[in-house]
Amino acid sequence: MQTPMPIVEIAGTGRFLPDNVVTNDDLAKRMDTSDEWIQTRTGIRERRIAPPELWAAQMGTEAARKAMEKAGVEPGEVDILIVSTATPDRWLPSTACDMQSLIGCDNALAFDLMAACTGHLYALTMAEGYIAAGRGEVALVVAAEKMSAIMDWDDRSTAVLFGDGAGAAVVRKADGSGRGILSSHHRSDGKLAELLYRPGGGAVEPLSQTVLDEGRHLLKMEGREIFKNAVRSMAEACDLALQKAGLTASDIDLLVPHQANIRIIEATAKYAGIPMDKVYVNVDRYGNMSSATVPIAFDEAIEQGRLGPGSTAMTVAFGAGLTWGAMTIRL
Ligand code: COA
Repeated sequence: MQTPMPIVEIAGTGRFLPDNVVTNDDLAKRMDTSDEWIQTRTGIRERRIAPPELWAAQMGTEAARKAMEKAGVEPGEVDILIVSTATPDRWLPSTACDMQSLIGCDNALAFDLMAACTGHLYALTMAEGYIAAGRGEVALVVAAEKMSAIMDWDDRSTAVLFGDGAGAAVVRKADGSGRGILSSHHRSDGKLAELLYRPGGGAVEPLSQTVLDEGRHLLKMEGREIFKNAVRSMAEACDLALQKAGLTASDIDLLVPHQANIRIIEATAKYAGIPMDKVYVNVDRYGNMSSATVPIAFDEAIEQGRLGPGSTAMTVAFGAGLTWGAMTIRL
């Protein structure tokens, strides 16, 4: 199969991380865990935790401004703003609308997309479709996550895994040179919703004293089941994204996977046939920042020169829903 001609390209990327570093030893002071357990089981050494006054929309705005600067795009040129977040600042309006007002992209339509950790990949594909349909030429795709706000800080099996941060990408109509999104394969399986979810606080179980007392508004997870599903789904998504692009694993210069757990990353890379020296890893420094992990990793990889003009990247993610997906991108 011939490699398809991209419809859109990634014109610029950006990231924002809160300054506050929380190490495994810091967590061990407030719950029954240890640096040794966390590093061995997950590969995480530390994560960033945002202060209470910092909104996801503000983190996303910082990341978006950097991405727009690199792309040479002014706020008024943005046609569509898609924000993936599992931690909206408020139930209404969308975090995207708050971000639109902070950025000043007044000519855009703005909305949130909820696909948990796979959100950035889904959002890139939605932006691609909007531009392919001729509805606009410039999309701003932002992932902004304040996971610390939905964690149960008394549950050591989840609290040690997550962190806060934001990443962004400017997506623009491709210039015909072959640079851009080559392929994608995204799926979801709602039958497995309750492996990773927040049972209360929504319309089904509106916020009440009982919901608060029982912590039912906070994240619940079946860690082992998630682990198994993550490896299986991400491996399959990589295979299909490669196939759709007419590529093989040896064509990939860098795999940029969702950063949930180093063991999941290693298993996925092994299955995909990509050696670890071609895999970008920052889970040790940030933990799992849900949909923000992929764009932050992507931006760091570009900054470090591990991705540059002409290189071919594959990105893959997995999250609540369950949702998963993979994409191949030529820079
Ligand atoms: N510190 C110390 N011990 C802990 C702990 C912690 N933070 N969290 C759990 N444990 C304990 C458990 O209570 C259990 O004890 P027990 O054997 O006495 O019951 C033991 O460690 C082993 O737990 P287990 O769940 O088997 O560990 P694991 O090897 O599966 O690792 C995860 C747990 C959560 C790290 C792993 O399952 C995982 O990463 N899953 C995927 C999670 C994920 O990525 N979610 C987001 C998807 S986007």
